[in-house]
Amino acid sequence: MKTIVIYHSQTGFTKRYAQWISEAAGADCLELSAAKKKNLSGYEAIIFGGWACGGSISKISWFKSNIDKWTNKKLIAFCVGGSPIDSPEVEPALKRNFNELELKKVNIFYCPGGFNYEKMPASSKLMMKMFIKMLKAKKEKSETEQEMIKMISSSYDISDKKYIEPILQCLKK
Ligand SMILES: Cc1cc2nc3c(=O)[nH]c(=O)nc-3n(C[C@H](O)[C@H](O)[C@H](O)COP(=O)(O)O)c2cc1C
Repeated sequence: MKTIVIYHSQTGFTKRYAQWISEAAGADCLELSAAKKKNLSGYEAIIFGGWACGGSISKISWFKSNIDKWTNKKLIAFCVGGSPIDSPEVEPALKRNFNELELKKVNIFYCPGGFNYEKMPASSKLMMKMFIKMLKAKKEKSETEQEMIKMISSSYDISDKKYIEPILQCLKK
């Protein structure tokens, strides 16, 4: 199946997953800005990956605005975030990015990435600083919130190639 993986990445985790998927699937791989200039009509499968930002998948609006045009293609979207794969918030947050009709047409997946403060632009660093400050200021913090503060206060990497397996299986179906 002629496949392209298109990604939008800020600090490199989504790019890494896009490259893993394209290598394993023998697919082309392009950053979003380059993909926008390309004619995608010859592809039978389009995989889009964006990073999680406040529950939204970055640049997912571009992908969704093309769904009607991409009839008879297999459509896959994956989101890369800092949350671990077993976090209860992941599944509902992922689904909130799509309406019912879109969910019927698009296969969606989550891949854990991490945080890389060294590569993060100042605007994102500031947003994270404010978010951590807000969490710390909460009077009655749940155990999850306390763990989250510890986790996101510095860089970490929980990405793993194994998380692309469900995406590869979906491509084969
Ligand atoms: C402003 C901001 C908001 C974020 N919001 C979320 C979120 O809602 N859920 C999540 O799991 N990760 C969130 N993250 C973490 C990123 O999605 C994570 O660092 C991801 O691995 C970045 O991918 P990239 O390296 O491809 O840019 C956020 C990060 C930033 C900077």
